[in-house]
Amino acid sequence: MHRKPSWILVSTFLSLSFLTACAQNSGKSKDAEGHQWWQHAVFYEIYPRSFADSNNDGIGDLKGITSKLNYLKDLGVDAIWISPCFPSPQVDFGYDVSDYENIDPMYGTLADFDVLASEAKKRGIHIILDFVVNHTSDQHKWFLDSKSSRTSEHRDWYVWRDGKGPGHPPNNWNSDFGGSAWKFDPTTNQYYYHYFYVQQPDLNWRNPAVKDAMFDVTRWWYQRGVSGFRLDAVDTLFEDPNLRDNPVTGGTNPYGDPYEEKIYTTKLPEVHDVLRGLRKVTDQYNGVLIGETWTANIAELNKYYGESNNELQLPMDFLFTTVNKLSPAEFRKQIAAVDAASGWPTFVISNHDIVRSYDRYGDGQHNDQIAKLMAGLYLTLRGTPILYYGEEIGMKTTPPTRKEEVKDPIGRTGWPKEKSRDGERTPMQWNESANAGFSTAASWLPVPPTAATHNVADESKDPDSVLAFYKKVLKLRHANRALLDGTYVPLNENDQNVLSYLRSYKDQVVLVALNMSGAEQKINFEMSQHGFSTTKSLVATGTSSAKGDVVTLEPYGVFIGQLSK
Ligand code: NOJ
Ligand code: CA
Repeated sequence: MHRKPSWILVSTFLSLSFLTACAQNSGKSKDAEGHQWWQHAVFYEIYPRSFADSNNDGIGDLKGITSKLNYLKDLGVDAIWISPCFPSPQVDFGYDVSDYENIDPMYGTLADFDVLASEAKKRGIHIILDFVVNHTSDQHKWFLDSKSSRTSEHRDWYVWRDGKGPGHPPNNWNSDFGGSAWKFDPTTNQYYYHYFYVQQPDLNWRNPAVKDAMFDVTRWWYQRGVSGFRLDAVDTLFEDPNLRDNPVTGGTNPYGDPYEEKIYTTKLPEVHDVLRGLRKVTDQYNGVLIGETWTANIAELNKYYGESNNELQLPMDFLFTTVNKLSPAEFRKQIAAVDAASGWPTFVISNHDIVRSYDRYGDGQHNDQIAKLMAGLYLTLRGTPILYYGEEIGMKTTPPTRKEEVKDPIGRTGWPKEKSRDGERTPMQWNESANAGFSTAASWLPVPPTAATHNVADESKDPDSVLAFYKKVLKLRHANRALLDGTYVPLNENDQNVLSYLRSYKDQVVLVALNMSGAEQKINFEMSQHGFSTTKSLVATGTSSAKGDVVTLEPYGVFIGQLSK
């Protein structure tokens, strides 16, 4: 049966002046529409340990990334965000930085980085580094000096406090990774604060010297050719100076600690002063700041853009990742909210900290179709998408099955409730050979068995693969003005099976229809009544197609078509 659409009058819509999201800084590289490079770019997160291993020690490295630049270019990637590759004891696999201006030997050298940067530039690929702003490693020279005495030069670069008495930390604040957030240090008889692991002491951002040193780090890398930063854990930069206890909300987390409402340890207003300062530096280099911004609603997300769009250009919208089922209604609600946000939207469906989208949305039987469906969704919305490595080939989360196998420390502290983030960090699956072509040595995390069916080499040969679909959509997205710049117009807002919308730019209109159900769907979009005589298929899965006004979608099918008068 054909269902009737609740079509928003396209004629009215087309006559509306196009509200382009304004370019948000005064950089030089705006296009005719006022958009800057990062608004049209497709970003791709690389977890360097797991992407490609050039020297066969089982751990990915920079030369490995360089060797895959052609693959990334061919896929349709314009910018790579490399998770931390700086010197680090690797307690948190690089998020514990011991030197911000160097490369960890396991990943290569600064010279290797320069080669990567210049080879990427040749291909028009920007490099984004991960800037761990909240904390350093406990092996960083600043912290080693800080802990050496109460009067050391760097003492006040970290957060040191007296305990409440022997064995009693200053207050009830818990670490996000288990246990108290305070660690007693006998050398100076004080506690230092660590929001994350004990080995990740928080920097004291109330100290101007910290701010200056950290801002200089970004200048140093900008001058070396990077195009921006992904800012790690920005929510946690400041804590209540009066050390008030966080309210306890009842129950215990996987580490056995009481749940707390982190009102005195996250999202303090001072965060925004830092972001405005970092943005000023960034604007001098026409760069981009991406934020790891966990927000509960759009009002919170808007704060990260800044009151006059003078903070983060791309605060990541993790609200999108909280829609964990194929629900058109839920996605509609979320897309509308982000579309109305005060800055340019950023869409993310996976990263190195959460279960992969393949498993969050997959039903176990149609996972490849659903992976294409999700690509059809977040790659056709108005905003910047950030892919996570392996998503484009349908990589599956493969968590450890035994505590002894766990590499990520939270999985050992929280086992079995928290099984670690290892499952979403497994080696990239390049081909069917041993270790999936990632390395000739045993890899640091085991290669999932699905490498036999989901790998770049095989999927490159298969026109129906998840990879082939990603390439098609990304190719279309780069060339199609409506997908790049067009306004988002939801259609059929009561449809419980099909999520559909238009992307409309001047006289170009693209229809996107996504079947989120396991049954075939036919929808009469009544295009002819709105002056459109033809619907040309641009990208579609399987038998999904348009005939006259009717779009037929196979189960979990995608149809993307150009409407013409
Ligand atoms: C967020 C990062 O994405 C995560 O991997 C890391 O463990 C924490 N920040 C601490 O840096
Ligand atoms: Ca290596």
